Amino acid sequence: MLKGKSLIDPMDFTLNEIKEILDLANIIEKNPKKFTNLCADKILATLFYEPSTRTRFSFESAMLRLGGKVIGFSEPNSSSAKKGESIADTVRVVSCYSDIIAMRHPKEGAPMVAAGYSEVPVINAGDGGHNHPTQTLTDLLTIRSIKGDLSNLTIGFCGDLKFGRTVHSLIKALSRYTNNKFILISPKELMLPQYIKSEILEKNHIQFIEVENVEEIIKKLDILYMTRVQKERFFNEEDYIRLKDTYILNEEKMSKAPKGMIVLHPLPRVKEISYEVDKDYRACYFKQAKYGMYVRMALMAKLLGVI
Ligand code: NCD
Repeated sequence: MLKGKSLIDPMDFTLNEIKEILDLANIIEKNPKKFTNLCADKILATLFYEPSTRTRFSFESAMLRLGGKVIGFSEPNSSSAKKGESIADTVRVVSCYSDIIAMRHPKEGAPMVAAGYSEVPVINAGDGGHNHPTQTLTDLLTIRSIKGDLSNLTIGFCGDLKFGRTVHSLIKALSRYTNNKFILISPKELMLPQYIKSEILEKNHIQFIEVENVEEIIKKLDILYMTRVQKERFFNEEDYIRLKDTYILNEEKMSKAPKGMIVLHPLPRVKEISYEVDKDYRACYFKQAKYGMYVRMALMAKLLGVI
């Protein structure tokens, strides 16, 4: 039963519950008109303490397409956070006015605290460099819809694996399906945090290797998951400038990739994928953004218990 639950960590739901959400998202995608009144009496509150385009808009668009309404802020300086109100108090109040809350916050763990005080389900829309479970649902839906399966895949994660919360969450999620292998491609300074390697990968005997060079391994991949170097999480600008353009996926690199390999990116991209790659049939990142809306429609409908 998903009704009434919050989603804070990508491991919060069972594999069956995830399947339920992805199945519903595929049904909505095929016939969205059937669902335009499902949430007619529901209100989503979006509390975004950090910048966002896709995540906030896809949540809002998802609720509007289900016939519901949206309140919220995208700029914490326009809310009582500016006056020093705690997350606990903000959420206690907002949960009186809404039926479900989506929260993005720069501090790791903030949405978990919020869920402890809320009367309604709280969805983590990204907490610092930690987790981003709805991007993970988006990624799982995209992979399953295009590749047909979430098992037996070799996935290359490329870029900022240290601060990239979408990477952390997706690695956790994909580790639960059988026979997936990970190739972790990053400069030394941006390697995957040790806690994910030991608590998720090593503990579950999942095959992974760490490399610095994308050209050498691109031919082995089913999925190449590109990421942006997370400027906002760097302590000094010099390091960011030195590392930001380490990887640039272009036509030449794509010419060495398998025909069936797909390229994903949570977006926004900066320079890590050249625009020339967009016309390659294997570039799936805009499709992925669209799946993000369908999966959030499915997720909210399930957590609200309207379907
Ligand atoms: C990502 C995020 O916010 O973590 N964006 C998104 O939600 N699609 C990725 C990023 O900002 O690089």
